Amino acid sequence: MTLTRQQAWDIVCEFVQSDSLRKHMLSVEFAMRAYAEHYGEDPDSWGLVGLLHDFDWEIHPSLEQHPIDGAPILRERGLAEEDVRTILSHGPLGERLTTRDKALYAVDELTGLITAVALVRPTKDIREVKVKSIRKKWRDKSFAAGVDREDIEQGCAALGVELWDFHVPLVLKAMQDHAAELGLDGRMA
Ligand SMILES: [Fe+2]
Ligand SMILES: [Fe+2]
Repeated sequence: MTLTRQQAWDIVCEFVQSDSLRKHMLSVEFAMRAYAEHYGEDPDSWGLVGLLHDFDWEIHPSLEQHPIDGAPILRERGLAEEDVRTILSHGPLGERLTTRDKALYAVDELTGLITAVALVRPTKDIREVKVKSIRKKWRDKSFAAGVDREDIEQGCAALGVELWDFHVPLVLKAMQDHAAELGLDGRMA
């Protein structure tokens, strides 16, 4: 037994007030669902850890605390231990053992870069973003400078997927398929 998607979303809404952080967690959820489908795994279980992975960032805004200090709260709320472990695995001290752990790590930062690329377009519509434009911004280190490109590369290597031919297109499509829920459907233009 673990949490339902609704229970997880309620936890996100209770602990996260920032709209952009909520959208980040939704982005990671959608990317994780897409990866689960690719590997023939359970999209609900993979989506759940994506949706919850940064739930404690506003109450634990440092890497000394996050995500370690959030884990007891998730256990108390009924999240299964294997899900808590995957969430812990994305932290600086985390051990990424399963394919789900590795996927979470690989998609986390990339969703931030893709969101930034969508938001610099005049239309602010992610459905117009191409892999080529992400690649251009990737090379511009001053663009979305907080996004650690090396983390994403290492995440892909650990997962065993190719960055530009597979990983970026998969995550981009997962986000494009949920453009409205991410607010990236042009409404912010
Ligand atoms: Fe995190
Ligand atoms: Fe994150």
